[in-house]
Amino acid sequence: MGRRLLPGALGAMDRICARAVQIGLPAVVFTEHLDLETAWRVDDGDIGEHAQKYVGTDGLVRLPAFDVDGYLEAIDRMRRAYRGLRILTGVEFGQPHLWDAVAAPVLARGIDRVNGSLHMLPWEGEDRTEPTTLYRHRPASEVMWAYLEEIPRMVAGSDSFAVFTHIDYAVRSWPSATAGPFDPGAFEEGFRSAMRAIAGSGRALEMNTRQLRPWIPQWWAEEGGRAISFGSDAHTAESLAANFPEAMAMAEHFGFREGADPVDFWRR
Ligand SMILES: [Fe+2]
Repeated sequence: MGRRLLPGALGAMDRICARAVQIGLPAVVFTEHLDLETAWRVDDGDIGEHAQKYVGTDGLVRLPAFDVDGYLEAIDRMRRAYRGLRILTGVEFGQPHLWDAVAAPVLARGIDRVNGSLHMLPWEGEDRTEPTTLYRHRPASEVMWAYLEEIPRMVAGSDSFAVFTHIDYAVRSWPSATAGPFDPGAFEEGFRSAMRAIAGSGRALEMNTRQLRPWIPQWWAEEGGRAISFGSDAHTAESLAANFPEAMAMAEHFGFREGADPVDFWRR
């Protein structure tokens, strides 16, 4: 038994598996966050309520280390409890271009799906922070361009991840109150170059279904993207596979087709 297995975490996984069975999903991948930054800076209010407890009095966020043993044991338990459901291991690995070597022992433990995420950008010397904080300190378009320009560096600087997640991450916190509504056309070349880098490396692009943006699969297909995965970014059972039917229809429209195995990427 894993010493540090939290009953709360197990309960959440159990609810997600039960929900998957209830809505007829053939498979789930639990992509646990793997963030190796020991600390990063946030402005007040720039972090979700669930993570407030990790903000120190010095304004730095410190996450507990990823407990790979506990995670694998929890997956094992779920597999025993839900035999009809395919359950894959996975991580959402933040800034892999900076942490490949450090993450190697974790990834070598048998992680089925490694998603790569860009959550943080350089800020003031050694510090890194999220776009949501950067938007308070720099012009919005500068932050968006910095995000997009970091993507090819992340792709070239890591061998460990197979899927680039939520390419619209910096769009989520776009400060429309001060910068006006987000216009993807203003950053089209940045998104397209980032996509070309991802496609050129043979990776898949995640269709993150938290919010659907048809220009993402369209530009991805036009820039040579061959594979996509679907991720609902569900942190609760209720949002598991949210918007999947619409996302699948969109992917199909741009020429992507499902594979023989439900855990395969969709390809074109
Ligand atoms: Fe993420």
